[in-house]
Amino acid sequence: MLADKYADRIEEIFAKYPDKRSGIMDLLYLAQEEYGWLSEDALREVAALCDVDPTQAQSIAGFYTMFSEKPKGKYWLQVCTDLPCALRGADQFYRELCEYLGVEDGGTTGDGLFTVEQVMCLAACDRAPMLQCNFHYYENLDMETIKALIEQWRARALEEVPEPGE
Ligand code: FES
Repeated sequence: MLADKYADRIEEIFAKYPDKRSGIMDLLYLAQEEYGWLSEDALREVAALCDVDPTQAQSIAGFYTMFSEKPKGKYWLQVCTDLPCALRGADQFYRELCEYLGVEDGGTTGDGLFTVEQVMCLAACDRAPMLQCNFHYYENLDMETIKALIEQWRARALEEVPEPGE
């Protein structure tokens, strides 16, 4: 439970705001960081901490693309395909990225490592094609660059997997 594991951090969050409900965004981030995504249970937990109805937590989580209400891969790739980026080739880049990873729009690779999805403007319009991976920006991308990054991330993830018996 967040309240037990992060009691001090939650106290610090609430100390920044005039009331508990105002800390809901911070708490949603904390829950997503802890659980990897915002399940109904996680949303209920956050709502209870903030003294709001769970539907309010759900409506906020559903509105912002930085929150996810379904499980994601270890690497969450959000490609901006909004109009200015599309004019710089983001649509084609996104299609090729999905093809390279073997997933449909919004899908997750079979090994659970990568989730790809399209998002609206991330305020890097002049540096498209661009994406954010786990909230870090990668800009002026082409397929060669993203393939190299993906293979780096894949290798890093594999190194973290313990050997059988360990
Ligand atoms: S339109 Fe893609 S970052 Fe702004």
